[in-house]
Amino acid sequence: MKVHFPIKRGVFIDRTVGYVYAVDGVDLEIKRGETYGLVGESGCGKSTLGRAMLRLNEPTAGKMVFDGQDFSTLKGEELRKMRRRIQMVFQDPLSSLDPRQSVESILVEGLRAHGLDKGKESTSKRLRELLSAVGLPASALRKYPHEFSGGQRQRIGIARALALEPDLIVADEPVSALDVSVQAQVVNLMEELQEQFGLTYLVIAHDLAVVKHISDRVGVMYLGGLVEEATAEDLYAEPLHPYTRALLSAIPVPDPVVEDRRERILLAGDLPSPANPPTGCRFHTRCPWRQASRCDTERPALRELKPGHKVACHWAEQIQSGEIQPHEVKPILVEENDGLSPDVPLVGPASVTEALNP
Ligand SMILES: Nc1ncnc2c1ncn2[C@@H]1O[C@H](COP(=O)(O)OP(=O)(O)O)[C@@H](O)[C@H]1O
Ligand code: SF4
Ligand SMILES: [Mg+2]
Repeated sequence: MKVHFPIKRGVFIDRTVGYVYAVDGVDLEIKRGETYGLVGESGCGKSTLGRAMLRLNEPTAGKMVFDGQDFSTLKGEELRKMRRRIQMVFQDPLSSLDPRQSVESILVEGLRAHGLDKGKESTSKRLRELLSAVGLPASALRKYPHEFSGGQRQRIGIARALALEPDLIVADEPVSALDVSVQAQVVNLMEELQEQFGLTYLVIAHDLAVVKHISDRVGVMYLGGLVEEATAEDLYAEPLHPYTRALLSAIPVPDPVVEDRRERILLAGDLPSPANPPTGCRFHTRCPWRQASRCDTERPALRELKPGHKVACHWAEQIQSGEIQPHEVKPILVEENDGLSPDVPLVGPASVTEALNP
């Protein structure tokens, strides 16, 4: 799957002056009944990939095959029917729920759109079932989104997704906007519902700690590409990609002794712009294991190092064996102008220092 967004410039004529390579060649498979966790820094293309799967973003290349059917060729009624089977849950329930609609009307709307509103009595029964499934009282139906807490609102968002009896739920940062204590409740609810309704999940998060508990398998994304994929157990026990190791090293450990000895890998520099991704391995500008050959010239393919454990790094074996050790990385400055318009002055470290010490 590839999703490139054109960057347009120009006052009278829209010229395409470049592309944002939001998703740039991701190949993944989600098995029926499993939870696939997709993680990576903000801006690496997770939401775009999730949306492209539902064709909310048209893919530039590639396709989504769902239950044996190629989603990319479906049109009109067929597409609508298939879309019912895949539902999305969003990060911020307040902005994804219409504030002027009561919970009842929010839930009925979806049912109606897919012809599942079959009479007052059956619909009212269905709504009660849905609310009870997500742990809300029937009295919630008459209320409006602002009358609920964040966690309750997310329950409404989940009920709305469930209403259409989907097979797959794409949950895009479902708990990121919630307090930590509430996060666990919503994650537990999602797990219960999965069992009860035989759901398959794609759970997107920028936080590895969130997907750790819920996921069967985890995919790690960096700048539009998948850099590692493994069962949750394998990934946390033995991360193979330098980026994954850095992400994991940032999660605090509750045990103070372990915490003190915890390896912390600080990444140099910021996430480069997806409009101007680094050559070769996209992580080479920040990788503490970067080598003089291949890293900046050859894009590593995702390859299976051990059964079910894939990694996109030229030197994964040598890093794993300890033959290659991490070293200090001087961040490579990626050109700020994205190769787009030369009329914007470059604001680099030099001018920042000047601004501070004129
Ligand atoms: N509709 C769009 N048009 C142009 N650029 C977009 C659009 N949607 C997302 N992007 C860009 O694509 C990149 C990936 O975004 P996104 O998929 O939202 O990342 P994530 O969900 O991992 O934070 C970002 O640089 C973002 O600015
Ligand atoms: S290919 Fe090179 S730069 Fe990329 S992750 Fe591996 S060692 Fe680091
Ligand atoms: Mg996102």
